[in-house]
Amino acid sequence: MTNVTLDFVHRYVEGTPGAPTLLLLHGTGGDENDLLDLGRELLPEANLLSPRGRVLEGASPRFFRRLGAGVFDLEDLRLQTDALAEFIGSAAEQYGFDKTHVIAVGYSNGANIAASLLLRHPGALAGAVLLHAMTPFVPDTPPVLNGTPVLITAGRMDLMVPAANVEHLARILKESGANVSLHWSPGGHGLSEAEVTAAAQWLSAL
Ligand code: MLT
Repeated sequence: MTNVTLDFVHRYVEGTPGAPTLLLLHGTGGDENDLLDLGRELLPEANLLSPRGRVLEGASPRFFRRLGAGVFDLEDLRLQTDALAEFIGSAAEQYGFDKTHVIAVGYSNGANIAASLLLRHPGALAGAVLLHAMTPFVPDTPPVLNGTPVLITAGRMDLMVPAANVEHLARILKESGANVSLHWSPGGHGLSEAEVTAAAQWLSAL
């Protein structure tokens, strides 16, 4: 269902009553339809909430502006992260899902805003799967993540996301109290079957 009264163009697909909600966050150039099949595969019973990033780079939707490859517009990142946190609350009211049981599944640019949500709004997510994320920003003071489970999947040959940057993100999240698992695959920036399987296993074990 698409509802224009909420601030993000999005799809919402209801799951089994009482199931968690996966917040699906696409990569640059994607949209609200991109990750629905992945979400269903990862956690078949989940509600799926899939917004479209509100920033356009040329014709490509993104979740926040960037100044160059891997160089983020931090002011826009802050504004868009706050808007996404608010959207989760409004969508929970509108669709009637439990806003304390929302797990982000983000890929690339979507993983980066999910990481930003964890760091700026530590209560907004009950967990996160960050597929090929980088460190979105370094918080002045670490948020209190109190055991929030986070899975980061990364590729050893990922030319967009250097390994040191992924490890930095894992370290920041751990120092904030998150329960971080890091899954490395040998490939690049694309999603591998192995990491989809790892994410599905991680989610069903939560
Ligand atoms: C970003 O800009 O968020 C990252 O570089 C990943 C991407 O290219 O979207």
